[in-house]
Amino acid sequence: MTLQLLTVQQHILEEQRRRYPDASGEFSWLLSGITLATKIVAAQVRRAGLAGILGVTRETNVQGETVQKLDVIANQTLLQFLGNRGNVAIMASEENEDPVIVERDRKLGKYVVVFDPLDGSSNIDVNVSVGTIFSILRREQDPTGKRDVLADVLQPGYRQVAAGYVVYGSSTMLVYAAGSGVHGFTLDPSIGAYLLSHENMRMPAQGTIYSCNEANSEGFPAAYQRFLHHLRSGALGRKYSSRYIGSLVADFHRTLLKGGIFLYPPTASHPKGKLRLLYEANPIAYLAEQAGGLATDGRGRILDIVPTSLHQRTPLLVGGEEEVETLMDMLAKD
Ligand code: AHG
Ligand code: MN
Ligand code: MN
Repeated sequence: MTLQLLTVQQHILEEQRRRYPDASGEFSWLLSGITLATKIVAAQVRRAGLAGILGVTRETNVQGETVQKLDVIANQTLLQFLGNRGNVAIMASEENEDPVIVERDRKLGKYVVVFDPLDGSSNIDVNVSVGTIFSILRREQDPTGKRDVLADVLQPGYRQVAAGYVVYGSSTMLVYAAGSGVHGFTLDPSIGAYLLSHENMRMPAQGTIYSCNEANSEGFPAAYQRFLHHLRSGALGRKYSSRYIGSLVADFHRTLLKGGIFLYPPTASHPKGKLRLLYEANPIAYLAEQAGGLATDGRGRILDIVPTSLHQRTPLLVGGEEEVETLMDMLAKD
């Protein structure tokens, strides 16, 4: 009996060979750094309560947020297993104020990897899904050799060559796209491999769920409040329900599978939005568009935003065409 087991490494190699016949396998080797690191993180997440790694450190990160112990473990694991790939030039993490240079030699280091090592970390102690988000950019050629490291990182989202996330949920799933669709792999703990379980994921054009932190809604700009009322009143032709997990990866994963809309608009405490452009909004927006959905900051495409700083924040509205276009129309009339 031949088992239909397609690992993420085999999948990416086949994808790369199909699109770039002379592919060197470099990208697949880079991705194997992410799969190995996230399997280690998954093992830690699964036993966090037993390993004395729940709770917080005494540190606050560059975001001014209290750092959870698992944030540190996930960050160190990703830095280690991405850093030793040999083809990663620069790594930038939510948990590090500045980018980490791995390879100065431009012939070696072709890729820039930007990541949120543990997303939704406030949910760890209450055993709710958390995730890891990654974004992969190519390091621009620079004959002068004087190009500033930050310039290699601050690239607009449309330049991503791949992006993905791992959601540590009821199962551990890796979802990635590298230019030809979005594919989901479920970790089989009995063999320690991510196996293809969701080929060519497509986001429904319209769903029945909206997802936002309703506690902030009084502070949303008026057009957003009108939009939520529009959804609740059935004006889009169907009854909506509200779901909010508080981990972007988990809220987006549900939106990718079921459609609807996730929104983190400008709020009173975060007038420029709370979510970070480079390692939350951009990878999520890349996946959404690769799956047929839309992602905007309320004015334009997330992927068109030219970053000016590593940890800059943005509003994020992401979901099916029907809901996002309806919201954009209402915002345009505002
Ligand atoms: P992180 O844990 O990496 O800081 O991310 C948390 C983010 C995101 O996961 C989630 O969508 C959002 O914070 C939730 O924010 P609120 O608690 O303000 O709703
Ligand atoms: Mn996050
Ligand atoms: Mn995080």
